Amino acid sequence: MITVTKLTPHVGARVDGVDLSKPLSDADFAHVAAAFFANEVVVFPKQNLTPDQQIAFTKRFGVLEHHVRKEARLADHPEIFILSNKVDAAGNAIGAQDAGRFWHSDLSYKEEPSLLSALYAIEVPVKDGRPLGDTHFASTTAAYDALPDSQKQTLASLRNIHSYRDYRLKNYAAQQEDMRRGIRTVQEHAPTPEQLASVPDMFTPLVRTHPVTGRKGLFANEGHTSHMADMPIAEGDALLAQLYTHITQPQFIYSHRWAEGDLLMWDNIAVQHKATFDYDPLPRLLYRTTVRGSTAY
Ligand SMILES: [Fe+2]
Repeated sequence: MITVTKLTPHVGARVDGVDLSKPLSDADFAHVAAAFFANEVVVFPKQNLTPDQQIAFTKRFGVLEHHVRKEARLADHPEIFILSNKVDAAGNAIGAQDAGRFWHSDLSYKEEPSLLSALYAIEVPVKDGRPLGDTHFASTTAAYDALPDSQKQTLASLRNIHSYRDYRLKNYAAQQEDMRRGIRTVQEHAPTPEQLASVPDMFTPLVRTHPVTGRKGLFANEGHTSHMADMPIAEGDALLAQLYTHITQPQFIYSHRWAEGDLLMWDNIAVQHKATFDYDPLPRLLYRTTVRGSTAY
């Protein structure tokens, strides 16, 4: 029997009683999908999945993306994006090491930003009995609901710009800062001109309506938003800073402590997430699949 247990009042639920390595019946899938969209983040503990099984399950939600970073995809499975700090025999990163340094939602810079991501934990670093590398999720719908009506009206017509190029530069600067502080970083490939050309800057509504639930949420994030459109940069930056502080208040957050075998799925329209880099050089390996969404409105 499938059971759904809420993990916080606004965001996050645990789903037990499902084996995702087997095809779900339509009724079970509908149950799981409803729990997912209602709770924005769901964890299915104790799974044992091959890449093909992870792909088969997540494909039921829509078309899977092939990440713009080819070097971080799993060989023969372009739908799988590798999140890892591990390196191959030649010393090259086997995946993306620092996807998630900033609050962000996956692929929010794309013309059709991602609907959801699913991350399957294969290797979880543990130190002194405590798993490391927690992921934090903030509900942008709960944060939006909590705004005063007057601000909701002001925000309704505003747009912000999501930029993959600016994100990579920001990430690179943060990496250099880590190196200065003596934190090990794996040298990553710079994006190629072709990669950059495939993800031009996107003008996106600041208040976005969820195509499945109809809920409104704040669709701007620290990682991918470069600036607000249609207003002076400084004014836009001040507004964004206020919204980021608002969104990431503790009452809107679920923090996931990983266990091997967790399949964690989150709604990229309704939540933002952020990784924790407290484990390196302990090895960490997760596989992500990402379902394509639709143009924001
Ligand atoms: Fe991410």
